[in-house]
Amino acid sequence: MKQKIFITQKLPGNIESYLQKNGFITETFDKERLITKKELIERARDVDALICLLSNRIDKEVIDNLNKCKIIANYAVGYNNIDVDYAKSKNIIVTNTPDVLTDATADIAVALILACARRLHEGNKLMRQKKFKGWKPDLLLGYDIKDKVVGIIGAGRIGTEVAIRMKAFKTKILYYSRSRNYELEKLTEAKKVSLNYLLKNSDIISIHVPLTESTFHLLNKENMVLMKKSAIIVNTARGEVIDEKFLIKILKQKKIFSAGFDVYENEPDVNPDLLKLDNVFLLPHIGSATIETRTRMAMLAAKNVIEVLKGNKPITPV
Ligand code: NAP
Ligand code: GLV
Ligand code: GLV
Repeated sequence: MKQKIFITQKLPGNIESYLQKNGFITETFDKERLITKKELIERARDVDALICLLSNRIDKEVIDNLNKCKIIANYAVGYNNIDVDYAKSKNIIVTNTPDVLTDATADIAVALILACARRLHEGNKLMRQKKFKGWKPDLLLGYDIKDKVVGIIGAGRIGTEVAIRMKAFKTKILYYSRSRNYELEKLTEAKKVSLNYLLKNSDIISIHVPLTESTFHLLNKENMVLMKKSAIIVNTARGEVIDEKFLIKILKQKKIFSAGFDVYENEPDVNPDLLKLDNVFLLPHIGSATIETRTRMAMLAAKNVIEVLKGNKPITPV
């Protein structure tokens, strides 16, 4: 009997035919909308492998209903949507898609930094509203990037690439992370500091920690007040890493300069207060959204599934 793989949404590239060539049956949820939990449980009940999105919550109830599943391949590097410990306790392997999306995501973080520093969203809005009345010395003044201090929170794969890119803008790099990153220090002369020191001394702050119990509201009421009045903060990690309500409050009060968001605390819902602010640049979680990157992510998820279903070790286990 051929083994069956369920994919919770059509992915870029054609991994179905690739998986079929390798001897598997594939089934794909073929609607534009997200699969519901009920549908997911129904469709995945008797499959051998599941390829899912970061927007699919794979909790205990879902896992309890996976009768034959050997692998949950997340189509993302972050895996906070999956109860990994519970899956493991049921002998289900969980994999993610690291590395292949590092550069694309680092690019988006830098794009947000530049957008915030130079008020690109406000300029774009003004043009579209036909309010550009000619060059003016004080039109949409932002901040230089050169000579500024960039604070990287979470110096892993993506954080390191953001630091390398920002170093090219002639900045100074600070980082706060669990482990020391000697490679980063060598490449950018970055200095490892405490979180409070970073928040107090950085002009630009970029967040790259995964969402875990220890990083939930890592940025909170107590420490966000340490940021400079001119600070720019950018989040491409997970919304829940920041106390979003408090960040909105200090943005409203102009206690910091600007913030760039790719991720939100209650995704896909966006706090309506955020939409009223001019000093925020908002993106719909598109960190890895390039044709090449999303295709590589799909191939990596497919290859993880193939290895596990063939009885081999996964390529990128969690
Ligand atoms: P990574 O290589 O694992 O880097 C994460 C870094 O955070 C590691 O250096 C890790 O330290 C550090 N860290 C973990 N917990 C910490 C804590 N409690 N305090 C301080 N530092 C901590 O992951 P990555 O590939 O760079 O991805 C990072 C995150 O970006 C993902 O988890 C995902 O949520 C997000 N992401 C978002 C998008 C998007 O579309 N916006 C795209 C890709 C990824 P250690 O070195 O000690 O483990
Ligand atoms: C995207 O957010 C990812 O974790 O890959
Ligand atoms: C601006 O356009 C300049 O020439 O300085």
